[in-house]
Amino acid sequence: MARIIAIANQKGGVGKTTTCVNLAASLAAMHKRVLVIDADPQGNATMASGVSKYNVETSIRHILIDGVDAISALVTDTSGAYHLIPADDELGTAEFKLRDFLMREVRLKNALEPIQDNYDYIFIDCPPSLNYLTINAMCAAQSILVPLQCEYFALEGLTLLFDTIDKLGREVNPSIRIEGILRTMYDNRNRLSSDVSKDLENSFGDYVYKTIIPRNVRLAEAPSYGKPAMYYDKASAGSKAYLALASEILEKDFLAANGVQQ
Ligand SMILES: Nc1ncnc2c1ncn2[C@@H]1O[C@H](COP(=O)(O)OP(=O)(O)O)[C@@H](O)[C@H]1O
Ligand SMILES: [Mg+2]
Repeated sequence: MARIIAIANQKGGVGKTTTCVNLAASLAAMHKRVLVIDADPQGNATMASGVSKYNVETSIRHILIDGVDAISALVTDTSGAYHLIPADDELGTAEFKLRDFLMREVRLKNALEPIQDNYDYIFIDCPPSLNYLTINAMCAAQSILVPLQCEYFALEGLTLLFDTIDKLGREVNPSIRIEGILRTMYDNRNRLSSDVSKDLENSFGDYVYKTIIPRNVRLAEAPSYGKPAMYYDKASAGSKAYLALASEILEKDFLAANGVQQ
């Protein structure tokens, strides 16, 4: 059964989509069966996977609102060698329509059940707010991966996110947990970055991935070519960092599956 991981942080521009697409492509390149779900009305993960959000026939919106099967929304030929449930340019309206349903929090979770066994990892790219799309993602997921930029207010934002996760856990998904905190857009010449990074390690210890994603222009350029960075510039520091993150996650999962205490 797949591990379902929501990539969330209520702050925008912290690297959620970049992490989703590049981590998914890296794990797919390591022969894992990976599905990406674009739950953000901006549709950035869809576009970055080489799929136009303007030409999508069946999207996550149809799954959430019309009760369409997840399998009929699957795009199987993305530029990242993973499968994709895309967003479309009307996903924003789904947020409001979802409120009409009694069981509005679990519509994505229920829809994923029939296809869950087909994958090793399912990543859900969340919007930068706590709306019903995010709540659907957090209900469907077993854990949350939090990308974080090492800047002054980052730790405060993290405390807020953890409070939300606690509350959500109690109310709708008691088994949800933090998968890991990922330092993104890291600039090692910046003193503040390294100070915040150290604070993060001290406060959140094992939750913090050892892999750090550097600020790298290739990661920012690749989406405009509709590709994950490893298919745009495989030698770039950015694509190598996401491959390293994929290895770190695989190693962790391998040890956990074999009962090794970490
Ligand atoms: N490590 C990085 N180095 C340079 N640019 C990055 C990096 N990660 C993300 N970006 C760029 O920063 C912007 C915000 O990243 P994005 O992944 O879209 O954030 P979010 O999904 O959290 O809003 C995008 O333009 C993206 O290309
Ligand atoms: Mg995004």
